[in-house]
Amino acid sequence: MLKIVVLVSGGGTNLQAIIDAVADGTIRNTSIEAVISNKPDAFALTRAKNNGIDAKCISPKDYKERSDFNDALLAAIDGYEPDLIVLAGYLVILPPALIERYPNRIVNIHPSLIPSFCGMGFYGLKVHEAVLARGCKVTGATVHFVDEGADTGPIIRQKAVEVKQGDTPEILQRRVMEEAEWHILPQAIDMIAQGKVTVEDGLVRIR
Ligand code: GRF
Repeated sequence: MLKIVVLVSGGGTNLQAIIDAVADGTIRNTSIEAVISNKPDAFALTRAKNNGIDAKCISPKDYKERSDFNDALLAAIDGYEPDLIVLAGYLVILPPALIERYPNRIVNIHPSLIPSFCGMGFYGLKVHEAVLARGCKVTGATVHFVDEGADTGPIIRQKAVEVKQGDTPEILQRRVMEEAEWHILPQAIDMIAQGKVTVEDGLVRIR
């Protein structure tokens, strides 16, 4: 059984996709041990509670020192003994010690085709605004392992999505979630749970 902890900051539609995929068997052999948010009012926490999943808020704002927040987050995650940590719209810089402790055991969903429109400053609607400003005809989403860089870890899964004339950043964001994110994140978790994903020389190999 792959034990996962999901970190969130917002509405949690990707979390919902994971919950639904575990329920309908699209993700096999996996249990969601906990959902942790940095925002007390994140709707993702309500989604977790509605599904009987442990839900808690650990906010940097509740700690005087950043290092105290980092320690608290790390201790909370460690307490669940997860096999995999899933960042599902988590907008907080991870404690370096977390990345060190869980090499190739943290995955993130990013709403573009990495290496385009990723790295520092590319999050949320900013990604889609930049895609539209460049006049791209195709965008998409990427699931990747997290390393010490910004969106630089090994790529596990990607899916392309068409950019349509007249798209606004909001319309494009929605299409990328519906057509890509909500599919490839559960798929990647299932592939990991099935033991199909390995990292060799910094690249993902699927068996
Ligand atoms: C998604 O677009 C994800 O790619 C990005 O943040 C958004 C999260 O949405 N990192 P939700 O909270 O899962 O609804």
